[in-house]
Amino acid sequence: MSQAIRPVRKAVFPVAGLGTRLLPATKVLPKEMLTIVDRPLIQMAVEEAIEAGIEQFIFVINYGKEMLVQHFDNAPQLMKVLEARGKTDQIETIKAAALPEGSLQTVLQQEALGLGHAVWCAHHAVGNEPFAIILPDDTVLNSVGCLAQMVKSYNSHGGNVVAACEVAPEDTRRYGILDISGRQDQALSIKGLVEKPSPELAPSNMAIFGRYILQPEIFTYLARHEQGAGGEIQLTDAMAHLLADQDFYGFLFEGERLDCGNELGFVKAQIAFALNKPSLAPDIAEYMMTKLREYHEAGSKTAKSMKKVA
Ligand code: UTP
Repeated sequence: MSQAIRPVRKAVFPVAGLGTRLLPATKVLPKEMLTIVDRPLIQMAVEEAIEAGIEQFIFVINYGKEMLVQHFDNAPQLMKVLEARGKTDQIETIKAAALPEGSLQTVLQQEALGLGHAVWCAHHAVGNEPFAIILPDDTVLNSVGCLAQMVKSYNSHGGNVVAACEVAPEDTRRYGILDISGRQDQALSIKGLVEKPSPELAPSNMAIFGRYILQPEIFTYLARHEQGAGGEIQLTDAMAHLLADQDFYGFLFEGERLDCGNELGFVKAQIAFALNKPSLAPDIAEYMMTKLREYHEAGSKTAKSMKKVA
């Protein structure tokens, strides 16, 4: 089962989903352009990949997602104005969002047939080498990015690695779930994977969170275009096949996971990242205390008036 450890140089960003859970915000604007405090989700994902040593960035896009590519293009007119105004801080912010020439590639997923299909669309761009996958709406708040943590672990044991985290037992039907055979430090050995099982059928409550390091043999299984849960071509199903041939690990990453693909997670992420930004944190904390006091006062008034009515 042991394979030579080859470096992870490429990352796939599947961004061709419809983002229906965040409608109407995502009717025109791609979900990945929604900002958490000051940066769009796609930029946060790319910065995480750069930190992990990724050199090639492959966006799987569809019609209407061109803006995600434009975000990483030069903005000569804007730069000219900022330079003329001496806005050095803002110039640095814009430069931080630039990618080295030739490092960004796009492939089309013409039809949203599922995450597995989106990843398969990138097979020519990835070629025959291990690669990372980042789902930009899954964010992790930590001083060291989630992918950088995973790459470090991968470099010590190779194989395939998925980010893993515990979820409430009743939430297993929202995630790919791991069947675990052992644990060493942060690495879980996996003997099976199930996509979105009901709590009764779930082998554990350890879920896959949107970061992966996979070997290129995954494309053999993705090429079968098998439909799984929800009628979609599921990445988890292809990984479950690959598991029979290769080592697979769940990686228990450090940091707070924030699923920005739904309303509650998106709002929580704004609060968590704002409180993590030194220039904003004191003001935001004070504002939140005021709002919380108002919220509780309003709650107790309502409770009192309800008692009177009763
Ligand atoms: P999600 O399950 O979050 O789906 O996809 P979605 O379409 O983005 O959002 P909802 O559920 O309708 O609100 C997980 C990731 O897989 C990508 C999405 O862009 C997201 O990054 N994806 C999903 C594709 O690229 N293509 C697909 O066909 C499906």
